[in-house]
Amino acid sequence: MKALVLSGGSGTRLRPLTHTSPKQLVPVANKPVLYYVLEDIANSGITEVGIVVGESADEIQQAVGDGGKFGLDVTYLRQEAPLGLAHAVLIARDYLGDDDFVMYLGDNFILGGIAKLVEAFRADRPDAQILLTRVPDPKNFGVAEIGPGGRVVGLEEKPQHPKSDLAVVGVYFFTPVVHEAVRAVSPSWRGELEITHAIQWLIDRPCEVRSTTISGYWKDTGNVVDMLEVNRSVLDGIEPGVEGGIDAATELIGRVRIEAGAEVSGSRIVGPAVVGSGTVIVGSYVGPYTSIGENCRIEDSEIEFSIMLRDSRLSGTLRVQRSLIGRNVTVTPPSRVPAGNRLILGDHSRVEISS
Ligand code: DAU
Repeated sequence: MKALVLSGGSGTRLRPLTHTSPKQLVPVANKPVLYYVLEDIANSGITEVGIVVGESADEIQQAVGDGGKFGLDVTYLRQEAPLGLAHAVLIARDYLGDDDFVMYLGDNFILGGIAKLVEAFRADRPDAQILLTRVPDPKNFGVAEIGPGGRVVGLEEKPQHPKSDLAVVGVYFFTPVVHEAVRAVSPSWRGELEITHAIQWLIDRPCEVRSTTISGYWKDTGNVVDMLEVNRSVLDGIEPGVEGGIDAATELIGRVRIEAGAEVSGSRIVGPAVVGSGTVIVGSYVGPYTSIGENCRIEDSEIEFSIMLRDSRLSGTLRVQRSLIGRNVTVTPPSRVPAGNRLILGDHSRVEISS
């Protein structure tokens, strides 16, 4: 069995963190979401992985390399344009050959992983197996219609009037019959060859399409509340450890990971929290459920329940909470005269000021 990981896409859907980097590299607890995908695949016993890449091919290849660090053998498959998930399967035809495969969208995160599902698929081999999860906003997903006996009878892509709140999760298991299905579908209203239509084709044929409902699912939708929540879940399970430098005046409480090359002095860090390599923290408080990326600087500041990405700086800033701070951001107090807040914010920024 092989894996097909989709890491293409156009990069035109601007979200707070994807102006400057592909969404598959958005970090969760300091690690790109794509790394969790690849670790999950390796953990399920699959070693051969095709990664579909588009415009951001260079960044993805730089981050993943030949897959050796994940114990995987990675082949890159170039998709000339983001023509849809079924199109990605079309271009992967030669790579996949006649093997069964799991298709895993590179911006999806499954808490708990897919190892058990891979095992079950290998044992039962239905024609296809999909995963569903309950979501509050089904219009933004593929949505399943469930018939008698809990079987999936229909699938619609981003419907105006969803027939259920069961969204299609971005992990699909296929036998080679899917190649016939992806050849049979035509582009949707959004100009893409939809995998949901290919699966509908399988249902209508009829082939055996099974579904399993899962919880603990997340994808990058640009929703900060969800992002903080997935960060929280992952931090709850991190391995604590101190590889960086800590001085005697620093106190670490709970599950805290200080990565190699980080330096912490005169500070209090209450976990679960992670501090990336090269980051310097001086005279500050870092509270629970906080991920501080690489090469940041935090001085005379307090931050908790937040995500701060690499190369950013907090200085003299009290009580930053429930916040998402991007790359290369500087947060400092305003100058005293004239009194007032000075803001230099990029597109789609959002700030809450207490004064
Ligand atoms: O995340 C689950 C949802 O993924 C499903 O509920 C939908 O049924 C499915 O169509 C898909 O919807 P999205 O519109 O959210 O997919 P998106 O365009 O964000 O692409 C998902 C991943 O696949 C992302 O990592 C980019 C990559 N991709 C996408 C397209 C369209 C490619 O590699 N090639 C492509 O042509």
